[in-house]
Amino acid sequence: MRRGSIVQLIVIGVLAGGVASAVALIPNWLPEPASREAGRIHFVFWFVTGICIFIFAIVAAVSIYTVWKFRVKPDDDSDGPPIHGHTGLEIAWTAVPTLLVVAIAIVSAIVLAKNDAEGADPLRVDVTAQQFFWSYRYPEFGNKESDILRLPVNRSIVLRMTSKDVIHSFWVPEFSQKQDVVPGIHPTLHITPDRVGTYPVICTELCGLGHALMRSRVIVMKPAAFEKWASQKGGA
Ligand code: CUA
Repeated sequence: MRRGSIVQLIVIGVLAGGVASAVALIPNWLPEPASREAGRIHFVFWFVTGICIFIFAIVAAVSIYTVWKFRVKPDDDSDGPPIHGHTGLEIAWTAVPTLLVVAIAIVSAIVLAKNDAEGADPLRVDVTAQQFFWSYRYPEFGNKESDILRLPVNRSIVLRMTSKDVIHSFWVPEFSQKQDVVPGIHPTLHITPDRVGTYPVICTELCGLGHALMRSRVIVMKPAAFEKWASQKGGA
């Protein structure tokens, strides 16, 4: 292969990688994370996206270069030269993707294990899903009930979920995790909110006519404000 061809391939690859990177980076695809778990999930997302852009740049460079340089004339019906594989190339395109997929598997397994582990002294909150609203109960605070999920910042939270009727799914975009709430089983979700603010709680399982309206809010508060609220009698 001539030096000029390699330079041309690299230029096309860099351009294709640049376009793909712009598409990945410029729109705000992901909400700003508001929990440690979300931060880890976003890390996996960008790790995989980086690998995809790298592979895309190689494939796009070779495809565009080939179409450009080896295009036959419309009336050329002759056969191409017989080519008998290339062992080195075949080993490379087997080994490199294998390494990349193994790397993705390891990073994902570490993040899943970390996100599944509850921290020290977790706050338990019971979450009830039903057609078509969410409700929350705090066993640590005399079973205080609320229609809004209030959580203290920087504390490990265990949400213990129940459905009274059909399958719902708990999702806070800023927390990244999603959990299906299936009647008869009690899934848990671990969250460590790390940013004070108000975020939507959205049901993401088609659960009936009111599914689109099955929304609530989570308010992440400073610990003192949370304690004050949780110790008050009454809901809301
Ligand atoms: Cu509950 Cu959709």
